[in-house]
Amino acid sequence: MIVLGIETSCDDTGIAIYHTKRGLLGHTLQSQTLTHSDYGGVVPELASRDHIKHILPIVNQTLKSSNIERENLHAIAYTQGPGLAGALLVGASFAVALGFALKIPAIGIHHLEGHLLSPFLSTTPPVFPFVALLVSGGHTQLMEVHNIGHYKLLGETVDDAVGEAFDKTAKLLGLGYPGGPAISKLANIFSISGKSNNFILPRPMLNSGNLNFSFSGLKTAVLTLSKKYKITQEIKIEIAHAFQEAVVDVLTEKSIAALKQTGFKQLVIAGGVSANTRLRENLSSRTKEIGATIFYPDHEFCTDNGAMIALAGSMRFQNDSKLVKNSFTIKPRWDLEEN
Ligand code: KG4
Ligand code: ZN
Repeated sequence: MIVLGIETSCDDTGIAIYHTKRGLLGHTLQSQTLTHSDYGGVVPELASRDHIKHILPIVNQTLKSSNIERENLHAIAYTQGPGLAGALLVGASFAVALGFALKIPAIGIHHLEGHLLSPFLSTTPPVFPFVALLVSGGHTQLMEVHNIGHYKLLGETVDDAVGEAFDKTAKLLGLGYPGGPAISKLANIFSISGKSNNFILPRPMLNSGNLNFSFSGLKTAVLTLSKKYKITQEIKIEIAHAFQEAVVDVLTEKSIAALKQTGFKQLVIAGGVSANTRLRENLSSRTKEIGATIFYPDHEFCTDNGAMIALAGSMRFQNDSKLVKNSFTIKPRWDLEEN
């Protein structure tokens, strides 16, 4: 079975073609970082216009580079939500129209399901069941994953998502958008220096007794520091490191607690923040200590991409036809558990 995947939930137009026997045949990502960088965040109307401009040429380009004709496709999977309404509509209407023309199904996929299944694109995928730590610009959740479409929320952020906290902190430090890679780069410079950090930031909700998170206070702590000190490059590096350490500590300890609570031995981390090297290292050593294994997507599939949507679509088709809902709707707000 050959599935075309379309991701347009935010600021990346991601297109991919997935073959259930041969794996990923090709994928293309048109990033809108430059379009939005002057504004310090994503401008929804500009995102929609960019998707409209690029979607058809990228689909054609990906078909060509994958050596696949449109007529060879068996299904189309598109991101149905959550995300920006206008951006989602571009992908959904394109997918449904193409599916209608080719007489093949166009199915809506939950964006977070795409992320949590993305490690299945790797050569050593996890096996159900597992715990998933979903860390992106819009979400921070711990999920109990029993199978495709069988998800139980264990805990989530009560305020900012962790990627959002990276982005807001980067903005405060004048590091531009997206903030995650920028903060991580500075934090790594500090780690290499071997110095000890003068700033210790709080670990919010570390001992809350549940699996929820809170990150908005960290941003406020950084704001307080940035008012107190003259923000030189050295101070930025030190704050970035202190911020990353606090975030990584909380994400790690809650993930370990989730593994202990469920008794599962596999942890998947996915979403943009799973690209963070410090988070991967810390989680790898802590999971090892308790006899568990960690899985994460290849670097290029951490942030939004079409491959994870094509893969999720193909897994739904193969797993259970009841999981395939052929419809033209978008769900800008949508809980994964309802999926
Ligand atoms: O999954 P994603 O591409 O989009 C959403 O679904 O939201 O995640 C984007 C988020 C941004 O907040 C970005 O700053 C963050 O992922 N991010 C990182 C890193 N790379 C991307 N955060 C921390 N460290 C990174 N290396
Ligand atoms: Zn995402």
